[in-house]
Amino acid sequence: MLRNTRTGYGSVAILFHWVMAALIVGMIALGLYMHQQPLEEPATFQLYQLHKSIGFVVLSLGVLRLVWRLANPAPGLPEGMHPLEKIGAHLGHVGLYALILLLPVSGWLMVSASPWGIPTVLFNVLPVPHLPVPAALGTQEQAETFFKLLHEYGAYLLIALIGVHVAAAFKHHLIARDDTLKRMVSTRPAKADS
Ligand code: HEM
Ligand code: HEM
Repeated sequence: MLRNTRTGYGSVAILFHWVMAALIVGMIALGLYMHQQPLEEPATFQLYQLHKSIGFVVLSLGVLRLVWRLANPAPGLPEGMHPLEKIGAHLGHVGLYALILLLPVSGWLMVSASPWGIPTVLFNVLPVPHLPVPAALGTQEQAETFFKLLHEYGAYLLIALIGVHVAAAFKHHLIARDDTLKRMVSTRPAKADS
């Protein structure tokens, strides 16, 4: 059961969801932690390199996931949900997908704009070129500050959205007692669509 059906998620969507959830939560924790470490320490430099490397893994998986999602419509939401709740759920998912892409791209633009010009070498093996930065953003410092703020506030928004998302998932499971959480854990609900 690789693909989604009308009643549940297939194994590819489930695998993408949980691998990326773990990576993203880890990246938020790593970002907040490394940002508080003394910049002149070599260990801090290594943490930044690790953060950038995993960020590119998230970006690559995010693009693949979006392609898979566009080719695989999500199962319908539970029937008892209020129309406004359905719109909220949909907007929440769109927001999560947007931030999954915005975070790594803003990080990439931030390091590209930086006057330090520190190279990005994924896991110390694969060099990644810097992106061209629009001249309209001013000097390199100004562009770096812009993307830094975008990255930082994007991360805060992502944290808030994940909080609401997880609370909603448990509300479905514990209060509404529907299949919403179960179908993101198991392909059994997907198999019910015959
Ligand atoms: C899933 C992807 C990512 C997430 C969730 C994420 C999250 C974060 C968070 C929470 C912070 C701390 C912000 C603060 O306290 O000001 C941070 C900082 C940072 N991130 Fe990311 N990040 C991601 C991807 C990337 C990528 C791909 C790069 C670069 C290629 C990058 C470069 C940086 C840098 C350089 C900082 C330090 C910024 C500063 O010094 O103010 N991040 N990130
Ligand atoms: C304990 C943590 C989490 C739980 C319990 C959880 C639960 C769920 C559930 C039950 C769904 C299916 C909703 C539905 O059927 O309409 C879902 C979908 C989704 N989740 Fe999570 N989630 C968690 C963490 C995360 C994280 C950290 C992210 C990414 C930042 C994330 C991103 C998404 C996205 C984008 C969807 C939409 C999937 C689609 O329809 O294509 N989730 N989540």
